[in-house]
Amino acid sequence: MVILNDIYWGESAPVAKYDQHKFAEFAALSPRELEQECRDQHGRLKHIIRAEHFDLDFLRTICETADAARSVAKMEDKFMKSLLTAKSVLNYFKQPSSRTFLSFSMAEAHLGMRREEVRDLKTSSEVKGESEKDSLRTASSYFDAIVCRHPSDIYDLFAVWVMKSSNRELPFVNAGSGKSEHPTQAALDYYTDWRWFNGDLDNKVFAYVGDCKRGRTIHSGAKLMALHKDTTIYFVAPEELQIDPETERYLQERDAKVIKETNGLASVVPLAHKIYMTRIQDEHGGKAEYDPNFIFRKEFLATMRPDAILEHPMPKREEIDPAIDYIKDDPRIKHWEEQRNGMWGRVALLAYLFDADADIRCRYEKIKSIGAGLRDN
Ligand code: MLT
Repeated sequence: MVILNDIYWGESAPVAKYDQHKFAEFAALSPRELEQECRDQHGRLKHIIRAEHFDLDFLRTICETADAARSVAKMEDKFMKSLLTAKSVLNYFKQPSSRTFLSFSMAEAHLGMRREEVRDLKTSSEVKGESEKDSLRTASSYFDAIVCRHPSDIYDLFAVWVMKSSNRELPFVNAGSGKSEHPTQAALDYYTDWRWFNGDLDNKVFAYVGDCKRGRTIHSGAKLMALHKDTTIYFVAPEELQIDPETERYLQERDAKVIKETNGLASVVPLAHKIYMTRIQDEHGGKAEYDPNFIFRKEFLATMRPDAILEHPMPKREEIDPAIDYIKDDPRIKHWEEQRNGMWGRVALLAYLFDADADIRCRYEKIKSIGAGLRDN
């Protein structure tokens, strides 16, 4: 049984060695070459695997499509559900998930897609010694896209390699790979910011709090903020959970100002336009205890900027004061709304992958022009 990088390469060591050798050739691509492999001949993304492949035009397209979709679905649900009826998708989740799984599943339903799921690996041929390469390739025989969550940090790269090794290259969507990336969560968090700040995300201070070291939502999310001008990013975490050097370097190379705060959250609250809380990712080892100095306390709402927002990718534990969940009249508290935004953000991402995003935006403009009473959904 061969497991490397948290990927199961099958029962046969010689076969595993052969496959790993082939994969190593692909994995040697430069970041730029990999990005090219993830785009079609018109430059559109055909695989959504890393936040670093997103640019501001792409993000604006996703945000505008998500906004349009939530209104069009309210007015013309039939139209939305007719868009991708000919398309099918497999939701292949090899790690626990509530929000990402459900929001993808509902996003697919909003677009009329046929969908199947694999979540229980005991029902997969991997128990018979089939490698993950072969299982993924098998899955790609039946669907038009695969949305996948996996414990391996490099599963995104692996999956694109598998797709490219076949004659049936399907769009692959990374719904969370190990500690490294969660690009669709980053896109939906960005959508939440974009709505709140009316698209104006330059010259802002963002604070990422909690497990900055292993939080894949932070790794992907911070990269998107660095696309903007005059960005300052605080990583607020004890020394042992501070941001990894690769992410820090990536941000600095893009001119974001990076500040590491290791004493606690209180001093950063009044400075930040966004406070992004995360839990300890103890599924990767280490202690589960959350240092109380990094809890977002109810009284911080008084020192928080009036135009700032509080987010959390969820699931949460103790890192946000429980009293905050019962406050209904402070629009800066966004972690519940963020979840609903996630579903519409994923509608937009899937529509983009199948080239239906412009149809949604056009339909929205048309409904607006005839003055129908549009409402957010
Ligand atoms: C994730 O899958 O990374 C979540 O959305 C955040 C978490 O698990 O803490």
